[in-house]
Amino acid sequence: MESLAVDYLVIGGGIAGFQAVLSLLPHGPAMLVSKGPLSSGSSYFAQGGLALPWGFTESDIESHVQDTILAGAGLCDPDAVRTIVSGGEEAFESLLRYGVPFDRDKNGQFRTTREAAHARPRIVHAGGDRTGAIILKSLADAAFRQPHFRFLSPYQLYQFRKDSEGNIQGAYFLGERDSDLLEIRAKAVILATGGAGSLFLRTTNPRFQRGDGVSVAYRAGCEIERMAYYQFHPTVLDLPGTQPFLLTEAMRGEGAYLLDSKGDRFMFKYHPEGELAPRDVVARALWIELTSDKQQQITLSVGHLPKGFVRKRFPQVYGHLKELGIDLETTPVPVRPAAHFQMGGIRTDLDGRTGIKGLWAIGEVASVRVHGANRLASNSLLEALVMGRRIVESVVSESSEHFPPKTSTTDGKKIEEMILPEFSGEESWSALKTMLWESAGIVRTIRRVRQGLDWVEENLAGTKGPVHGSRFAYANGLLASKLILQDILTSPVTGANCVLFGPEAGIVESERS
Ligand code: SIN
Repeated sequence: MESLAVDYLVIGGGIAGFQAVLSLLPHGPAMLVSKGPLSSGSSYFAQGGLALPWGFTESDIESHVQDTILAGAGLCDPDAVRTIVSGGEEAFESLLRYGVPFDRDKNGQFRTTREAAHARPRIVHAGGDRTGAIILKSLADAAFRQPHFRFLSPYQLYQFRKDSEGNIQGAYFLGERDSDLLEIRAKAVILATGGAGSLFLRTTNPRFQRGDGVSVAYRAGCEIERMAYYQFHPTVLDLPGTQPFLLTEAMRGEGAYLLDSKGDRFMFKYHPEGELAPRDVVARALWIELTSDKQQQITLSVGHLPKGFVRKRFPQVYGHLKELGIDLETTPVPVRPAAHFQMGGIRTDLDGRTGIKGLWAIGEVASVRVHGANRLASNSLLEALVMGRRIVESVVSESSEHFPPKTSTTDGKKIEEMILPEFSGEESWSALKTMLWESAGIVRTIRRVRQGLDWVEENLAGTKGPVHGSRFAYANGLLASKLILQDILTSPVTGANCVLFGPEAGIVESERS
């Protein structure tokens, strides 16, 4: 087995991971290991923008905090919210230093958009609707300019490397072939592998976001929490024969309408803010409309906005639809909700520490309890950037004292000798995704959640034995699904939760779909 050593090992090549690398590099060599290119993670596809307490006064911060808490359905940790929102100004300034070209008006002022459940415009964006890709590329370029940075890809996290006291001192990775097992010894490991949205049948996530980080951390003994709180994005392209594609909430922020089959706006039936209601409210409203009338088709329409505006403001969405033969400016586009964001994950404190020494977690894989049961639009990039900066102090001070990288003790060890996930049975991603969509989708009933859990248990049980390659990814997918389903049965449910849930939310077991 090949063995490498580095001070700081960051796993995951999204905005959280690259921000962490850039924060740590002044303190020692850092390595970032990714499963694929920059476009393999969700950050790259973030369209809407970066939510900031724009103006940055105390009252601007307070307003952003209150909106986050309100959207989170009462389940945010107010300290976490205040910490993340207050970190926005420094995070933004640092992005400007890295050269992120945020969009400006003709007077050179930054443009800000209002998105759903925000009381005021405070979302900055770049390249119109290419904010995630542009921020990520700027951070990655800055990291690649540093002499003590190393990027390894494609490597899949397999297991953490622990010392005799159970402290984490690096990790093992699988390369493209099962025989390519790589050991990386490190003083500290920062996990930033993103969420599990691609375990659901309909999702906005790229295909490899399948809960690997949460699964590996769970096997290592980390506390996993709030996995029930999965966010569903309401406006995702719904065209037969095409992949779901996000139509950013910023479009509604700029005035787009949601229309029913008769061409009427309907969102005011559900919320006084209409199309700008919190994301969970809009997703539920679409689900109700679409399932109560099978003929119903919901479309997103921008035809009433000034000609040329949408093409310029949302070039990515416009271009994607153009390739599909649709002119967004003249044609309402069919939409339907899809799984979007994991609000729970590995429990951490406000400095990203997990319960295991040597391991920190940030971004979508982590649960710092800032998003509650429904994340406020564009707060995910804010969280990733702020946490990617916040970890530095604890990582540097705690890892140097307690976790000197030891020499490799695993040279020559075979993969079979490591502790491995096990499952028997057939590998069927489509069965797994359908099961999770039906049991843990927008509407959940206890009966379906239990059926889903039984299905997962059946697939996890049986013959024991090491799993490699795609079967390893599948074992992770099963485990992450189990964590979601189990958490649904035990998490507090509120009427304003991100899902409708059985009789508690007034929905009976009548299986409406
Ligand atoms: C969007 O652009 O609608 C998604 C942004 C987010 O997830 O907050």
